[in-house]
Amino acid sequence: MVRNRRRWMPIVLLAAGSLALAGCGGGNKNSNPASGGSTQVEVFSWWTGGGEAKGLEAMVADFKAKHPTIAFQNAAVAGGSGTNAKAVLASRLQAQQPPDSFQGHAGAELLDYIKAGQLETLDSFYDQNQLRSVFPQQLVDQITFEGHVYSVPVNIHRSNVLWYSPKVLTEAGISAPPGSIAEFIADLQQVKQKTKKIPLSLGAQWTADHLWESVMLADLGPDGWNALWKSGADWSGANVTKALQDYAEILKYTNAEAASTDWQLAAKDVVDGKAAFNIMGDWADGYFRVDLKKKPSSGYNWAAVPGTNGVYDWLSDSFTLAKGAPHRAAAVQWLGFLGSKKAQDTFNPLKGSIPARKDANPKLYDTYLKWALKQWKSDKLAGSLTHGVVASNAWNTDIDTALGLFLQNKNVGNFQSALVSAAKKRSGT
Ligand code: GAL
Repeated sequence: MVRNRRRWMPIVLLAAGSLALAGCGGGNKNSNPASGGSTQVEVFSWWTGGGEAKGLEAMVADFKAKHPTIAFQNAAVAGGSGTNAKAVLASRLQAQQPPDSFQGHAGAELLDYIKAGQLETLDSFYDQNQLRSVFPQQLVDQITFEGHVYSVPVNIHRSNVLWYSPKVLTEAGISAPPGSIAEFIADLQQVKQKTKKIPLSLGAQWTADHLWESVMLADLGPDGWNALWKSGADWSGANVTKALQDYAEILKYTNAEAASTDWQLAAKDVVDGKAAFNIMGDWADGYFRVDLKKKPSSGYNWAAVPGTNGVYDWLSDSFTLAKGAPHRAAAVQWLGFLGSKKAQDTFNPLKGSIPARKDANPKLYDTYLKWALKQWKSDKLAGSLTHGVVASNAWNTDIDTALGLFLQNKNVGNFQSALVSAAKKRSGT
């Protein structure tokens, strides 16, 4: 396994030459901590269900104990990967009725909010809370624009995980998880031939986006994948065509009822022994272990997505201070708490993510997360598309639309042309 130097795509690069953020600095009229009451704080996320809510609940309980005078208003909107939540958030921001603090992925997604002037900078907050050195510098780069920092990261998730049922693999005569896309396709075929189980479980369309991203990363490699998001990138090459063909092939082994379920039910098929494989981010570990009470290694097992060993397709959930936050002072308390070692070590062992802070206590993290902590230190980095790192919401939506059509017509040529057009239109925006 070749271990290359980490490659991040700082916001500064993604945003090269883009607009200045006049009025978005710490000097705006909302920056006085005394403005707005401090009796409640409204926090917006999409963490409502299995694998999502438990970590938030535990962290909120700690926050309430520490700040008994602040009423916590949980404004979470259900739906994996925030597809519903982001739409609700967009209309609230449009109507200038922001929640005090909302979830946003570090990277390009955050940049959308920054460019729209919807976030306050957190420069002095970072200095006061001595946060500048507690997160990896590369992560700080992803929440920084034109020298100002804009959010507090609470975790780092890995998106390229292959979850599998040891039982179903044994039943299919497969002794080890596949290491390449070719082996993966052969194994899917073997599961289909030798068992009555679903070879690869899939859920709502965003999980098909997530799967597509994983196959692209495997076929293009991290350098090829990361390069796609740079200005003038070539999406018309044979490597992209090959990845789309592989994706089409893999889709043949997914369950037909996929689209009507969210990620939890698709992932649950694996621990219930109904499916051999599922490709999902490591929030699935939180769901399996904490919600479904399954034991890592026996109830479920994992490997890097075939073809991505040594690569960490990362994303980070971060929370913002909305411009015009009605309860600004309380929101600042919330963010201060969120950035603390205590909060991160409470939240992440339950959520199935590793902490964004460098000084968290590794002993608190279970089997999968110990593995993730280790991989994070050595793997080469790729940024997630589905979870907001490499492309704006608009570009992401264009790809999702093209992919939705592809799921129906399976036309590789049309899909690739749509991807080329989307890149021409959105690259550098
Ligand atoms: C991601 C988010 C994760 C998890 C996942 C599934 O976008 O970063 O924390 O919530 O969606 O909903």
